[in-house]
Parts: sequence; C-alpha cells; structure tokens
Amino acid sequence: MPRGSETGSELLRFSYGMAVSGGEALVPSGAVDLQAIEVYGEILKRGDSWLKESAAEGRDGFGWLSLPGRDISDVEETAKWISGFDAIVQVGIGGSALGNLMLHGALLPPYWNEMAASKREGPRFYMADNVDPADNRMIWNLIDPEKTVFIVISKSGSTAETMANFLFFWDRLKVDLGPKNAAGHVVVITDEEKGVLRPFADEIGCRSLVLPADVGGRFSVLSPVGLLSACAMGISARKLLQGAAEMEEKLDARDSVFDNPARLMAALSVVHYRQGRNMTVLMPYEDALERFCEWFAQLWGESLGKNGMGSTPVRALGAIDQHSQIQLYTEGPDDKLFTVMTVGDPAEEIVIPETEEKSLVSLSYLFGQSMNSLRRYEALSTAAAIAKAGKPVISIELPKLDERRIGALIQFYEHVTALSGYLLDVNPFDQPGVEQGKNYTYGLMGRPNYGAQALEVTELAEKLSLKEILL
Ligand code: PA5
Repeated sequence: MPRGSETGSELLRFSYGMAVSGGEALVPSGAVDLQAIEVYGEILKRGDSWLKESAAEGRDGFGWLSLPGRDISDVEETAKWISGFDAIVQVGIGGSALGNLMLHGALLPPYWNEMAASKREGPRFYMADNVDPADNRMIWNLIDPEKTVFIVISKSGSTAETMANFLFFWDRLKVDLGPKNAAGHVVVITDEEKGVLRPFADEIGCRSLVLPADVGGRFSVLSPVGLLSACAMGISARKLLQGAAEMEEKLDARDSVFDNPARLMAALSVVHYRQGRNMTVLMPYEDALERFCEWFAQLWGESLGKNGMGSTPVRALGAIDQHSQIQLYTEGPDDKLFTVMTVGDPAEEIVIPETEEKSLVSLSYLFGQSMNSLRRYEALSTAAAIAKAGKPVISIELPKLDERRIGALIQFYEHVTALSGYLLDVNPFDQPGVEQGKNYTYGLMGRPNYGAQALEVTELAEKLSLKEILL
C-alpha cells in the first residue's frame, strides 16, 4: 500500500495482498486463492509469446508493442513548429482524443490554459471531440485563428463526429485566413491509406503524420496521435517512450506470474471476473490521473467487451468518490475489483496551516500536517475499508508523476489489457460494436452505400417508441 515519498528508480509498486487469500495476505471473503492464480501462469506465458510473435509479424493491432522503439523525429519536428503557436485545437474522438487528455492531465500543471503564456511551455489546448455545437463555437471564439494550429486525427479517416467538427473549423478557417493560409494551420494524423484525411492532406498540402496501420485507435497514445500535442506542450516524448520500453523489458524478464505485475493483474482481473466481479474500479488519489481513468475505460471496455464477456470499467477519483461511492463500494454487491492508485512523491506539497481561532481548535489534529499525507491516509483508509468489507483491492503506486512513469504505466495497462483478452479468448484489438454504431450513423446521415444500415436502425428505433409515456 501507499508508502509515500520513497522515490527510487522503480517504475511502479504493485501490491495485491488485499486481492488474494493465503500466505501472509489479508483474507477478505472476496479474495481468490493464490493457487487459482498459479493456474494462469503457463497460459499467460503463452499469451506473452503470442503478443511478441504477432508484433514481430506486423499483425494488425499488435503495433503498440513496438511503438517505444519507433523513430519520432517527424513528431518532434512538427511539435517544435506547433510550439510557436498560441493555441492548439485538436479534433478527434475516442482513441484519437483520450490519450492526449490523459497525457496533458498527468504531466502538465492543472489549469494550463488559464496560465500566463510566459509561465506555460507551450500553446493552450482545446479538444473538439464530442459533437456539440456549443463547444465548437466556444472553442472558435476563444482562439485567434492566425495563432492556432488545428490537429485533426482519425485512424479510419472517416469518423462522422470528427469529420463534422473538422468541417466546421476548416470552413471558419478558410473564411478567416483564405484557403491557402488555412492549410498552413492544419496537421493531419491518419492512416497511410484509409479514409478521406490522407487525400485531403495531399490536396491542400498541409502537414501530416502517419498513424501506423498495425496500431489500433485506443492503443495509439504513444504514436504521433498522443505524442504530437504532448511534445508541443513541453512533455518529453522520448522519456515517455523510454518508460514504456523499460516497462516492456522488465516484464519480459519476469517469468513467474507472481513476479510479473502485468501477468498477475491480468490473472487477477480474469479470476475475479469469473467469480462474478464484473466491474473494475480504477480510483486514483491524484487529480492529475483523473483523465487516466477515462483513457483506461476506453482501453478496457472496447478491448474486452466481446462475446458476452468483459468487466465494466468504472472511473472513480479519490478522495471525491469517498464522499459519493464508497458506501456502495463497501456495503453494496461484491461485484467489483478495485484498484487504488497513488503517487509516492507528488510534485506539490502544502503544509496545513495552524490557526488560533477557538472555534477551530478541534481541527488542531490537521495543523502542521502535510496535505499529501492526508491524501495518502485517505487512500489507505479506502483500501482498508473496502477490504474489511470483503471486497478485493489492488494498489498501484507510482513513485512520482513523470514522463518515464506515465510511459511505463501506459505500456503496463496496454499489456494487461491484451493479456486479459488472451485469457478471455476475445480479440482485444477489434471493435465491431463501435463500428456498428458508426455504420448506423452513416446510414441515418445519408452516406452513400449505407442504405441497408439506415433501414435496419430505423426499424430498431421504431421499437423504442412502441412503448412510451408523454408527460
Ligand atoms: O479504438 C478505436 O478504434 C475507436 O474507439 C476509435 O478510437 C474511435 O472510434 C475513433 O476512431 P478514428 O480514430 O478512426 O476516428
């Protein structure tokens, strides 16, 4: 569990004594036996060989494994150019957005856009991911197009939300700057061949980067997709990749399931899932990691929710959710596996000030104490309260929040997700359910060749109104 500022060179501390029974471990009623985990040891070894061999063959979806070793000089060169602008507007959704928000949240100071330009090491950042006219219009009103770069990202180069948002900004940009100048404010990141964005970039002559064909959207944060804006805002892409590479090396060198946290986490997730814990709660005690949960939720949900299986990712944030969800977590159904995440040595500290008012004397237990200690004790108390209630808890502590640890954490969770897919016998790299929704939308919006989809979704939608109440 959280130890606080013992910052060595480790990448993370993975503690699972509250998620298993046997040995010295705490024995909550919901724990799984260590032997049940051991059974998975050999299967997970094969899972790791499957990952490695498939990546070496360049199979679709496995490219995330080799991202840490890929050349990023084109990303750095483009980022350097972007860093001279006042603002970035990124247009993209899902895997083409959540990784950026996660990296910025984890590695940049909070309230970045509100900071004075002289205190920021890069442009302000706005994400146009959802289809929301109010958001798009407000973003446009907040930026000066002359001083703004628009990064449009889509792996498929066709997602309706991204295309609609981009068409709005592109239209505004052309009106304000003229078509030729407008092209000098756009960077496209997309597949080398698929979709409309690649030919569009060629047609207008704007800058572009390639999203490697073998890397899926939700696994693309360490590709140009996540690295470009991060790098332009002063985050070291090289250190992120270094951390990811280190994580891979360390995992590769650990053969036993009890020594290898990725295999162990995959085994724990699947064993608990098979015991009916069909939700997995990720609860960091660090605001900077709030967006990490969003990124994780897509990775986990989209990769594993298949063939009637998959545990539902739940985003929580300590200590806020102590005052919102802990009642349910402790005394509600035993259907969740919890991960409490902490940072050993946070960047900032506040010593809680003493004060002399008599009315506040009962708060003297707080006087002179560190705010980070309070947060750490809260995390510990939450884990203990959940475990006491018989529910399984894992703890992950990052020694500190830096590029190396975040790169490592990303690689860790991608690895865990892929291995969990292997154990569940689902393909963690496709997303037929997402494609179905996209195809229905294309049909309803009148895209050519999607007539059958339009008919099907219309028939299904009619069922909705078969039973309704008008109030
Ligand atoms: O992981 C995925 O493939 C999806 O969730 C995509 O990230 C999302 O649908 C956006 O797709 P695209 O990047 O093709 O516009």
